[in-house]
Amino acid sequence: MPDPKLRDIKACVFDAYGTLFDVFSVADGVRAAIGDDADRVTALWRQKQLEYTWLRSLMKAHADFWQVTREALDFSLSTVGNDDPALRDDLLDLYLSLDTYPEVTDVLAALRDNGIPRAILSNGAPPMLDAAVRSAGIANLLDEIFSVEDVSIYKPDDSVYQIAVDSLRCEPAQICFMSSNAWDVAGAAHFGFTVVWINRFGQVPERLPGKPVEELNSLETLPSILGLT
Ligand code: LAC
Repeated sequence: MPDPKLRDIKACVFDAYGTLFDVFSVADGVRAAIGDDADRVTALWRQKQLEYTWLRSLMKAHADFWQVTREALDFSLSTVGNDDPALRDDLLDLYLSLDTYPEVTDVLAALRDNGIPRAILSNGAPPMLDAAVRSAGIANLLDEIFSVEDVSIYKPDDSVYQIAVDSLRCEPAQICFMSSNAWDVAGAAHFGFTVVWINRFGQVPERLPGKPVEELNSLETLPSILGLT
């Protein structure tokens, strides 16, 4: 039986990278460019990208997600002995046309058809989010794209989640927030959102404050747990 809070939500807000967009869809491009080291570089790229967001927030040294993503890739390529800036810039561009997960379009359309407002709330800088959304053909399925650039600090700082509350004019608990990133799930739930963990990678829960009300392995059954189908 889904948590009753899910019946009272006023909007659905989605994390972008890893939740709507498959950040590991860069793997083929990385493999074509650097061969055997591709898996290591792809995994390290994502790990470093996230670490740099947390560290820059603690250091109060914000730089936008395009720069952080470039510097994380730079570190990852350098780790396998590749320091070619032209190659790095080519691979970075893969971030502008990431695949969406297969169910994303249908789920966003189902929410729209049921009158549920839909937004992204992401670490991404506005130009990179706009490019990815356009490339994926989901722009007309989203009402808003909220970026941490409005507050110049990264998730899980409360001020990031507050952007959605202020813009959508509802209580935190009336926002149903979806993320595949377990640490983002913890941050958003701790802030007060009603959180559904899209546990795409079969991870165990983080040992952090803030718990999701529901755990799914993809977005597919989201409309049904919201009582829409
Ligand atoms: C985002 C990162 C957390 O889209 O994936 O905000």
